[in-house]
Amino acid sequence: MQAVFIQKTGGPDVLEFTKDFEKPDITIGQVLVRQVSTSVNPIDFKVRAGMAKIFPKVLGGDVSGVITESKSSKWKEGDRVCAMTSGIRPDIAEYGGVPLTALTAYQALDGGDLQPGKSRVLVHAGAGGVGHFAVQLAKAHWKAFVVTTGSTKNQEFLKELGADEVVDYQKENFAEIYKDKPFDLILDSVGGIVEDRSYTVLAKNGIYMDIYSNNTDQKKIDAGKTWTIQKYKMQFVKPSGEQLQIIAGYLEQGTVKCVLDKIFPLYQIREAHEYAENKQGRGKILVQISKESRK
Ligand SMILES: NC(=O)c1ccc[n+]([C@@H]2O[C@H](COP(=O)([O-])OP(=O)(O)OC[C@H]3O[C@@H](n4cnc5c(N)ncnc54)[C@H](OP(=O)(O)O)[C@@H]3O)[C@@H](O)[C@H]2O)c1
Repeated sequence: MQAVFIQKTGGPDVLEFTKDFEKPDITIGQVLVRQVSTSVNPIDFKVRAGMAKIFPKVLGGDVSGVITESKSSKWKEGDRVCAMTSGIRPDIAEYGGVPLTALTAYQALDGGDLQPGKSRVLVHAGAGGVGHFAVQLAKAHWKAFVVTTGSTKNQEFLKELGADEVVDYQKENFAEIYKDKPFDLILDSVGGIVEDRSYTVLAKNGIYMDIYSNNTDQKKIDAGKTWTIQKYKMQFVKPSGEQLQIIAGYLEQGTVKCVLDKIFPLYQIREAHEYAENKQGRGKILVQISKESRK
């Protein structure tokens, strides 16, 4: 079978593509999925660059495809599924961009003690993989008032996602705009100055949700643990079939969309990683594995 794997850490050139990877045997409770698509997430290039400890390591956290063998009582051959693998610690073709980032967004919002129809949420980086799901899910599932931040080129896109208000972080300072209109939940995947400014617009009983951005700062995490009135939380995504089914419901209805930035074939995985690391687009970067498509 096809696979992309690494035998050592490094740049995109350590990614190896093969058509001869050994097919795994499944045991009770497991299924074998003929994968249609996956996506490239920041965690993939972080694992590739240094976090991987055991080799060969097959990369990728998102699964979307059709079951070809089943030893599960719940799932049968032919079922169309999407899932997030637990291998990374730390239309069906489009669903390959969903699990990891949509679950991150869902779990971050779910941990935010939101009051349906009443809460004010600030989602930073609304154009990103996580952010674009967070904006849509905060509206669809929690009926929140949603403000999001993005670059100038993404302003229209963010409004189309359904955000109530959009801040252009290249021209405006959200902390100034919202100093008298604080948020019950702030979801931050950016960190640094964005984190410092976010504290100033957090409501009295509000929650600052750090989702392990590139700039996550241990001193701030330690200081956050001492907060008493407001809450500082860190969220690391976990697989959850139950939550994925809730998300799938919104995708089927069309109230939430997985926006695709660019699609790469599996054999161009190095280009996909390079593109993801220097991302200028919006939504998800998909990796097409086979041609199976939605009926
Ligand atoms: N905790 C977890 O379990 C978990 C799970 C998934 C991801 N993450 C982390 O979350 C981060 C984002 O992941 P992702 O998949 O959403 O990445 P992504 O798809 O690459 O999106 C990043 C987005 O950040 C925006 N951005 C950059 N600087 C910004 C700023 N100053 N203010 C507002 N937006 C800004 C960019 O949009 P513009 O073009 O508009 O600037 C870009 O679309 C990564 O560090 C990732 O590792 C954590």
